[in-house]
Amino acid sequence: MNAPLQDVVGSIAVRRVLVQLSDVHYVGDGRLFGGLSLRNIFTQVRAILELPQYTPEAIVVTGDLVHRGTQASYRDLQREFELLRVAFAVPIVVTFGNHDDMERAGAVFPTTQIAYTETHRIVSFDNSDPEITPQQERWLSDQLAQPYRSGTILAFHHSPLPSLVPILQRRGMENRGALARVVENSDVIQILTGHYHHAMAGTFAGVPCWSSPALSTQQIMAPQLAEVDHGGGSGFSVVELSEFGPITTPIWLDIEQSESDSRSAKTIAST
Ligand SMILES: [Fe+2]
Repeated sequence: MNAPLQDVVGSIAVRRVLVQLSDVHYVGDGRLFGGLSLRNIFTQVRAILELPQYTPEAIVVTGDLVHRGTQASYRDLQREFELLRVAFAVPIVVTFGNHDDMERAGAVFPTTQIAYTETHRIVSFDNSDPEITPQQERWLSDQLAQPYRSGTILAFHHSPLPSLVPILQRRGMENRGALARVVENSDVIQILTGHYHHAMAGTFAGVPCWSSPALSTQQIMAPQLAEVDHGGGSGFSVVELSEFGPITTPIWLDIEQSESDSRSAKTIAST
């Protein structure tokens, strides 16, 4: 027998959900590669997050915030984040990627952030460079020295796991040992990264490690795996902090055919 609707809605309402946006490559009023409107994408994201199964407790952004690195585009993106923050009354944790201009991004967003939900802690740091510096390793170890309630989610840009795409395999995190030292024996229960522009799940130092789909252009995984060819949809991730541990789900957005056509024709060298 089906459960009464009230019970179903009640069980959804207690879900603890983090939303991860990655590789935004924001272009304000413009269109990325002449096709994709990131403003439209953000409108879709806000509409989707209104649904009860997605209602976030925090939003995490794992780098490559804007595409052209202008100060104006960082300010534009900040307004977009502000709409999300006001709509859902949640902290927005922002970290940088290799595509970001550190000086301009740092003028708008903090370089490290720690946010707390009722049950979990989110720790982010600047990973625009694929290497963790000794200072960052010390800072992370200090932050994680004390466990927090049900655990910590660590968010940054470069995955410590290699991509399936040959040309991207050496473009992940460079000194994984530093990250492993930080994560081992800590209360980190989930690592969230981006950079590859394709969804990927694995385990690093015993912790689930997720690379989110890009909110902008997606890697085409076949048939030419040796190439870096972007197109194929836009997406983000939902991380449910469930009784079974973190459950990570990619959410794919509806893009116009014209946007898809213009993007699939583009090949770019940098994620
Ligand atoms: Fe990117």
